[in-house]
Amino acid sequence: LQNEKESLYIVLDYAADFFRRNLSDTDEGRSIAGSYFRERGINSQSIEKFQLGYSLEKWTALFEDATARAYKEELLEKAGLIVRKSEDKVYDRFRGRVIFPIHNVSGRVIAFGARTLRKDDKPKYLNSPESDVYHKSKVLYGIFQAKNHIRQQDKCYLVEGYTDVISMHEADLPNVVASSGTALTTDQIKLISRFTKNITVLYDGDPAGIKASLRGIDMILESGMNVRTVVFPEGHDPDSYSRELGTSGFQKYLAEHEQDFISFKAALYASEAARDPIKRAESIKEILYSISKIPDGLKRAVYVKDTSRMLEMEESVLWSELNKLMIKEQ
Ligand code: CTP
Ligand code: MN
Ligand code: MN
Ligand code: MN
Ligand code: MN
Repeated sequence: LQNEKESLYIVLDYAADFFRRNLSDTDEGRSIAGSYFRERGINSQSIEKFQLGYSLEKWTALFEDATARAYKEELLEKAGLIVRKSEDKVYDRFRGRVIFPIHNVSGRVIAFGARTLRKDDKPKYLNSPESDVYHKSKVLYGIFQAKNHIRQQDKCYLVEGYTDVISMHEADLPNVVASSGTALTTDQIKLISRFTKNITVLYDGDPAGIKASLRGIDMILESGMNVRTVVFPEGHDPDSYSRELGTSGFQKYLAEHEQDFISFKAALYASEAARDPIKRAESIKEILYSISKIPDGLKRAVYVKDTSRMLEMEESVLWSELNKLMIKEQ
């Protein structure tokens, strides 16, 4: 199995090189993908740092090049690089897309994310399937490029997308990883906690998305990490907003809007539930549920005090509700 993994790493590294060469050495890549990156403001330093590339439109560009270099069809298929159409017919999985290689924590290429260049093409991103070296739920995009910065800053920004990671680097905020649009898993939290206990979640600014991700954050609290959040104006994500504000404006925005997660959640519910007693009770339960996940008793006490102030509710009432929740959990 070790040998099988090794051959996957080798063919994936070859493929990353192939996609990179398509971008720099072909007319199609230079004009189509090159101008796409330019229009998005992705600079050549980022292209190099993240090994960005391009997959040609031709149906068998990679397959033919790889076969000429003696890579076996079976290996290309296992690596998710080609798709089998019939017994004797295969084609490239990624065609006419810009390529974001996904690296593991030690910097080896394990998969690819591939973005369409056409506005309404679906799916927007096509990703490698799982393989012996790629387990989506254990990987965070950008961890290799970020890990030393995360350790140095003792803080990790968590964003949703590939381009958010890249734009954060360009805004001098390289301590960042992306969950790639899915809810965070315990394996991913463990990976971050090797480098820091402080995590700041940067959501895309759509209210539905924010509500949906609140529950996932309770898992981060449960792991004992300190969680902060920043919310962006509706319709923006870290990529689009950093491009709009520029580096110093964006850094200033983060500094001014970074907020402790429990306080953020309390404020969110408090504003919603101000005059409705039923909603108010539900909100308090929601917040207490998050607090009950925090392993540190002292921290829990601080949050109960804060919540009591924010929601104008007796501390003793909050404590008795919290204790009920915590007994139920055991
Ligand atoms: N994603 C995915 N497949 C999709 C859509 C999204 O894997 N069909 C993942 C990608 O990792 C993407 C992330 O979810 O980066 C966030 O999705 P979204 O916010 O829609 O994309 P952006 O990263 O903002 O992409 P872009 O700015 O290029 O439109
Ligand atoms: Mn290489
Ligand atoms: Mn989104
Ligand atoms: Mn986005
Ligand atoms: Mn975006």
